[in-house]
Amino acid sequence: MKYAIITGASKGLGEAIANRLIHEQIAIVSVSRSENVEIKRLAIEKGISYQHHTCNLSLEKEVQEVFMEIAHSIFQKEPEEILLFNNAGVIEPIQTIGNLDQTPIISNIQVNLIAPILITNLFFNKAQVTNTKVQVINVTSGAALRPIEGWTVYCSSKAGLNMFTQTAALEQAAMKTNNTIIAFSPGIMDTNMQETIRSSSKEAFKELEKFKDFKENNLLLKADVVADALVDLVLGGKVESGKVYNVNELLG
Ligand SMILES: NC(=O)c1ccc[n+]([C@@H]2O[C@H](COP(=O)([O-])OP(=O)(O)OC[C@H]3O[C@@H](n4cnc5c(N)ncnc54)[C@H](OP(=O)(O)O)[C@@H]3O)[C@@H](O)[C@H]2O)c1
Repeated sequence: MKYAIITGASKGLGEAIANRLIHEQIAIVSVSRSENVEIKRLAIEKGISYQHHTCNLSLEKEVQEVFMEIAHSIFQKEPEEILLFNNAGVIEPIQTIGNLDQTPIISNIQVNLIAPILITNLFFNKAQVTNTKVQVINVTSGAALRPIEGWTVYCSSKAGLNMFTQTAALEQAAMKTNNTIIAFSPGIMDTNMQETIRSSSKEAFKELEKFKDFKENNLLLKADVVADALVDLVLGGKVESGKVYNVNELLG
C-alpha cells in the first residue's frame, strides 16, 4: 500500500491534495494543528486508511516526537511507497526588516524550512534500513526566486527549501537510492494564505494592491486544480529528482 504524509492537510492546497489522494486509494497521514473533519469523513466513506496527528510544526520537539511516531507506525506496515508532502507553510511576518518581531521570524523558518529538513532526514534515514521508496514533495513558492519587499523571511525560507531540495537530490542520486525529492511552486492560489496577504498593510507590503487585484480579477488558481496537477506528476512516475517544478508548466 502507498502512504501519503501531508503537512497542512487541514486547509488550502494540503486539503486538496488529501482529497485527491483519497480518490486514488492512497492511505492518508494528515499533520497540522487542526483536523479537517471533511477529509476524515471522506476517507472513512471511501474505506481509506486515515490518521491525523496534531502537531505545531514551529516547535522542533513536537516535530521530532510526532514524526518518530508516524515513521514507526508506517514503516512497520512495509509500505510499497511513501509520499511525503511538506506542504504546510506560513507567509507571516509581512513587514520590512528592521521592523520585525523575533518570534514570527523564527516560527516562519521553523515551519517553512526546518520542519521539512527534519522530516525528510528522518524518512530518508528509515528508508535506508527498510529499502522503502520515499518521494518527497516540498511545496515552495515563486517568492523563492523573486525578492518581494515585505516578505524577507518568507522569500528566504522558501529559497532555502529550494536549495535543500536540490542538494538532497544530488546526494540521493550519488547514493543510488530509489528516493526522489522535488520542489513544487503552486502559483497564486485562492486560499487562506492569500487572505492573510490581502489583510496586510501597504506600508509593510508594497505589492498589496496588485495582490488585491488578483482576487478581484479572478486570477487566483483553485487549490484543487493545482493539487490535481501535482498529484498527476507524482503518481505519473516521471518525476525528475532535484527539479523545482512550477504549476504553470504542468497545467500547459
Ligand atoms: N496560496 C498561495 O498563493 C501560495 C503561493 C505560493 C506558495 N504557497 C505555498 O503553498 C503551501 C500551502 O499554502 P496554502 O495557500 O494552502 O496555505 P493555507 O491555506 O494558509 O494553509 C496552510 C496550512 O499549513 C498548516 N500550518 C500552518 N502553520 C502550521 C504550524 N505551525 N504547524 C502545523 N501546520 C501548520 C495549516 O494548518 P493548521 O492551521 O491546522 O495548523 C494549513 O493546513 C504553503 O507552503 C505555501 O507557502 C501558497
